[in-house]
Amino acid sequence: MSEYEKPEPSSRSQKIPPFLVMDVLEEAQRLEATGERVVHLEIGEPDFDTPEVVKQAAIEAIARGETCYTHSQGLIELREAIAAHYRERYSVTIDPDRIIVTSGTSPALFLALSAILEPGDDVVISDPSYSCYANMIEFCGGRVVRVPVFDEEGYQLDVERVRAALTPRTRALFINSPANPTGTTLSRQTLAALAELTAERGLALLSDEIYHGLVYEGDEVSALEVAPNAFVFNGFSKAYAMTGWRLGYVIAPDAFKRPLQKMQQNLFLWAANFVKRAGRRPRRPPPPAVASMRAEYDRRRRFLVPELRRLGFSIETMPQGAFYVFAGYRSLPGAHGLDPQTISSVEIAHLLLHEAGVAVAPGIDFGHQGEGYIRFSYAASLEELEEAVRRIERWLSERATG
Ligand SMILES: Cc1ncc(COP(=O)(O)O)c(C=O)c1O
Repeated sequence: MSEYEKPEPSSRSQKIPPFLVMDVLEEAQRLEATGERVVHLEIGEPDFDTPEVVKQAAIEAIARGETCYTHSQGLIELREAIAAHYRERYSVTIDPDRIIVTSGTSPALFLALSAILEPGDDVVISDPSYSCYANMIEFCGGRVVRVPVFDEEGYQLDVERVRAALTPRTRALFINSPANPTGTTLSRQTLAALAELTAERGLALLSDEIYHGLVYEGDEVSALEVAPNAFVFNGFSKAYAMTGWRLGYVIAPDAFKRPLQKMQQNLFLWAANFVKRAGRRPRRPPPPAVASMRAEYDRRRRFLVPELRRLGFSIETMPQGAFYVFAGYRSLPGAHGLDPQTISSVEIAHLLLHEAGVAVAPGIDFGHQGEGYIRFSYAASLEELEEAVRRIERWLSERATG
């Protein structure tokens, strides 16, 4: 067969790294298919069902025949509901025209990065941070500049470290509060200082607020409160348990409205009409199920963190939001064949899955700073979390006795 008849995948499609946590999930599913029982704490997906009113709204919209294309920015009724939410929740006024509704937050991130970056532009992200940020930035031709954040500093992004990382090629700063994988929230003060820095240097401030609505203590501040021209990304997957519905949005500065809209028209078209109808429901007003899911995550957080500390994991900063605990394992007691000082996060995640039957995400998935850590997701029932703790405790003591 000639080269012509056998095209190779492009180098950037070959270079994009896998989302490691998905590899763990697939390996766990392979084990389950052989009859093993696995406790799933790897995936960041609510274990709750979508609230009933949302499902009903979608069913009614389908019955009314709302199954056609909509405006390329998204249904105006949904954009107005989103603008009303920002007015009521954060006291900021945004024109619904600045909102582009997408099929989940991920396409919104991709559209915005594509609209902002020229090849070779730098984007500053925290290390650790959500793995897809770095992968998407590189895929869009940008360069990733990582600024470390530390457990002992509450995982706060330090303004001076960010300033020191800026170059003439820096175009944007990514923030995510509450954060995946640390569960930390940026204080209003830090956010304001970062907003000031980006304004001073003419950078885009990209704020991923997908875990808003899941804050248990501390501030829940939208970047728009301190930076009216920030790009804000948000969606319905997490707080409303709607991962599979694929509904998200970006609120963009005026100058980016048209470029984003044109990309949406060409690249993705848009989220399903009846899904957008359903998306209006959770916020008018939020159904009680949303508050009870949040309360349940909080209960799990208050169970899991002290239990992991008791087992020997190091967690200095109590996660304040989202549904993750980023736990350091270098502090675990040394055990037969297991040296916590040298084992990699991929290896320990592998052992936990194969020997303890607990699936977790390796810290390296979130950046170099994540080595020495594993991420536990508490989007799993309290019973499952109790079972995971029992299994890890048994595994550690079996390892200790050889
Ligand atoms: C920080 C962060 N942003 C974005 C996403 C993607 O969310 P969506 O389901 O809306 O595409 C995730 C999913 O885990 C996430 O953790």
